Amino acid sequence: MQILRHTTLLLGFTLLLPPFSLAAHDYDPDNGEEINELCAGCHGEYGQGGKDGEYPRLAGMPREFIALQLHLFRDRERPNLAMVEYVDDRQMPDEDIQDIAIYLESVRLKTKLPPVDETAPDFDAYARLLASKKLMQIPRAPGDIAKGQSLYRKECASCHGREGLGDQKKAVPMLAGQYTNYLWRQVKKYRNKIRIHDPEEPDEELLADFSDQQLGDIFAYLSIVDD
Ligand code: HEC
Ligand code: HEC
Repeated sequence: MQILRHTTLLLGFTLLLPPFSLAAHDYDPDNGEEINELCAGCHGEYGQGGKDGEYPRLAGMPREFIALQLHLFRDRERPNLAMVEYVDDRQMPDEDIQDIAIYLESVRLKTKLPPVDETAPDFDAYARLLASKKLMQIPRAPGDIAKGQSLYRKECASCHGREGLGDQKKAVPMLAGQYTNYLWRQVKKYRNKIRIHDPEEPDEELLADFSDQQLGDIFAYLSIVDD
């Protein structure tokens, strides 16, 4: 594997070390915010994503996952025409990858607006509009939620987390709160070997044994986690 270095410990288990270090330099939040202005044109000012999943949500994503994907884009290991010019070496040195990854991980989006009285004299329509742009709420996807939940818990939760929030310590993305269209598009990429789902077992596609209906049920469940 070129992408990840395998370190086998004496204990007999394998650790996956990304070929970069996120502790390489001190986090610079201002730099993170500045870089985010470039990303915002597609991924939204708050990393909320857009265009119904053409651009994925990045807010709250584990930093290790964001950094790894930026390295994969930069090294042309994961195709992404839209982003190529933003991630080449000159534009995006390792320090910048670290800063934007930590910045985006730290953005917390609400999934609901608090109720307000729109007729109250102090109602601020503009503040409300701004708050609604920051909101993340995935529309309910079709499918059997109960079946999806039990399948998810059995087959996906060990890596993607019990509530679908990903693994903050590893490069495992959240699935809850991600646009359903986006998830489907990535399923196709994994099935067609355009992306590699599990770097430890690159030839074993984790989703190969699941029918579209089963995945649809899982995505239905994931779409209601933020309700
Ligand atoms: C011109 C539009 C555009 C810009 C600007 C852009 N992106 Fe993207 N980004 C995309 C698209 C489109 C995808 C999805 C590609 C796919 O379907 O595989 C994506 C995917 C990603 C992913 C993978 C997320 C996942 O869950 O798989 C990350 C991480 C990412 N972008 C980070 C960034 C960062 C950080 C910036 C700013 C430096 C940025 N992007 C700027 C269009 C853009
Ligand atoms: C062995 C751990 C593991 C298991 C089990 C697993 N995944 Fe993943 N998943 C990952 C990792 C790691 C990634 C990121 C890989 C990469 O870099 O593309 C990922 C990425 C994804 C993505 C792409 C998300 C994005 O934002 O780009 C989807 C969709 C996905 N997994 C769905 C599932 C589903 C559905 C299940 C259960 C049927 C599942 N995964 C089980 C580890 C796992």
